[in-house]
Amino acid sequence: MAAGRVVLGIESSCDETGAGIVSQGRLLAHAVASSMDEHARFGGVVPEIAARAHLHSFTPVVRHALDQAGLKLSDIGAVAVTTGPGLSGALQVGLAGARTLAYGLDVPLYGVHHLAGHVAADTLEHGPLPDPCVVLIVSGGHTSLLLVRDLARDPIVHLGDTLDDAAGECFDKVARVFGLPYPGGPAIDRAARSGDPRAVAFPRPLTGPKDDPYAFSFSGLKTAAARWAEGHAGRDLPVADGAASLQEAVADVLTRKALAACRDHGVGTLVVVGGVAANSRVRSLAEERCAAAGLRLRVPPMTLCTDNGAMIAAVGDLLVRSGAQPAPWDVSIDPSAPLAYAALQPRAATARAA
Ligand code: KG4
Ligand code: ZN
Repeated sequence: MAAGRVVLGIESSCDETGAGIVSQGRLLAHAVASSMDEHARFGGVVPEIAARAHLHSFTPVVRHALDQAGLKLSDIGAVAVTTGPGLSGALQVGLAGARTLAYGLDVPLYGVHHLAGHVAADTLEHGPLPDPCVVLIVSGGHTSLLLVRDLARDPIVHLGDTLDDAAGECFDKVARVFGLPYPGGPAIDRAARSGDPRAVAFPRPLTGPKDDPYAFSFSGLKTAAARWAEGHAGRDLPVADGAASLQEAVADVLTRKALAACRDHGVGTLVVVGGVAANSRVRSLAEERCAAAGLRLRVPPMTLCTDNGAMIAAVGDLLVRSGAQPAPWDVSIDPSAPLAYAALQPRAATARAA
């Protein structure tokens, strides 16, 4: 019987090792270990360091989640794991651990698309997603506007994607130029608190009447911010004003396009997910604009915005409950998997029954 299964979710696509436990849409526990501090002096994630850190953290993080939930390994009825996209070595460690657990426990294994995990994270706080909804995914590696129906069953429709850098990538790279610590997004957010968002007139890329209404581009904004910083050579850089103005430009473009997508598709709910959904201005501007437009806004709590295992367990739980076919035991990682379905498709010939 699939119903009532307790699903363990494992996330290891970047620098966070996450384990989450979900059953019937309910979050029972989750634990995250981050290797962020080990990457800080390099100014970005070092793949080999991340993979090694996952190896160290895997067992303690799973143990921690089980303890929090008051469960034993034998209570786990299915294992879901991020199989892509992400860093190859990092994904390999998570998949090896998850496969071992599932095989040892004789429970089904599900390969999950990391970005679908970000979408499902919101269901743990706000319940099932309305069908349809518009989802804005803003993370370190991706920026996409999606039309989502049944996340476990239906194909995910891309209304628009970034043509170059992701929003988080833009924050991370500009933060470096501004002399702010890694990771850049939270540092820009903090610095922006004491700045004037109107101090610098940064561009709003792809918002002209002839532009694709749902496509994003952040590399020009990144360059504009770098030029602005260079223009202060030899003088003190007003970092707070630069950070506030950059954040305003990113939040303006993201929310403008997301609202246009809702309006054009007659959709009443906007869901904003991914690491950049933790940004205070993205959240507040989305709230203001959705309220003005009569749209319902859903944003996961901060701890579920950045990478975690609960979001992967949430997808696993949806897949289990929809009767989806588990992954074959020889399922492999796909570091650049496009987002088409929540489950990274198992090859039918080798798939086994649950
Ligand atoms: O979703 P996520 O945890 O990992 C990926 O799947 O990429 O997103 C990480 C990204 C990083 O670029 C980080 O700088 C950004 O999310 N981020 C933020 C904030 N918190 C995290 N960006 C802006 N403001 C924040 N408060
Ligand atoms: Zn992510």
